[in-house]
Amino acid sequence: MASTEAARKGTSIMRKPIIAGNWKMNKTPSQTVKLVEEIKALVKNARCEVVVCPTQTCLFAAREALMGSNDISLGAQNMFFEEKGAFTGEVSYESLLELGVKYVILGHSERRQFFAETDETVNKKVLKAIEKKLIPIVCVGESLTQKQQGVTEEVVRMQTRIALSGVSAGSVEDVVIAYEPIWAIGTGMTATSSEANDTIRRIRGAVTEMYTPEAAQKVRILYGGSMNAGNARELLSTSDIDGGLIGGASLKSEDFAQIVGSLN
Ligand code: 13P
Repeated sequence: MASTEAARKGTSIMRKPIIAGNWKMNKTPSQTVKLVEEIKALVKNARCEVVVCPTQTCLFAAREALMGSNDISLGAQNMFFEEKGAFTGEVSYESLLELGVKYVILGHSERRQFFAETDETVNKKVLKAIEKKLIPIVCVGESLTQKQQGVTEEVVRMQTRIALSGVSAGSVEDVVIAYEPIWAIGTGMTATSSEANDTIRRIRGAVTEMYTPEAAQKVRILYGGSMNAGNARELLSTSDIDGGLIGGASLKSEDFAQIVGSLN
């Protein structure tokens, strides 16, 4: 039994881990089909939820390739909060639902940095996703400067509180949060397992402040930032890290499958 599960058993809380691949702006439709097929062949009977998040233009191809797989779910990397209309370049929740998307990453730091997402727009998207029964994976995390200034807790607490603003007590346990320190994304600089676990406990604390300890114990909080086949087992064996949001390593089927397998 993975020690994560044992630790959670100790508190009688069972949070099913999630391993999600954020493919970012990589892979064409045909490459997506190839990667999905490779992952499908390698990932069977996983003890966690497995999610792949290709680019928006590859979701259709991914869905076709995933047909017949009960092991892997489809996620999107973004979603707009309006139903339809004059929002050039945006993607609607209706399209995502029609494409069989179950999860949607919201507020990734790259969206915040390059596409002007704010805590407020992230919050609107979270509320809309919940209303439409898409599971949001809400990203929070501090920059290197903020880490050096010692304000990590304040930053993730604020991001979490704003993202969840208006989310009902009944819905919060369906929200997934991903702690992604910006300095660890794509840099090879992973947070240590105790550092990541500690910040995730603080994020859980922010959820407790807004709701109840019981509700907060049910919220799954993932770690993301240079997680790979070599460090996943250690990160995932901590008490509060409930899975991973994987960038670079999710583009290599064997590495991704190994990360999934590290929960077995
Ligand atoms: P890397 O795993 O490439 O660091 O990316 C993490 C990430 O941003 C996942 O959303």
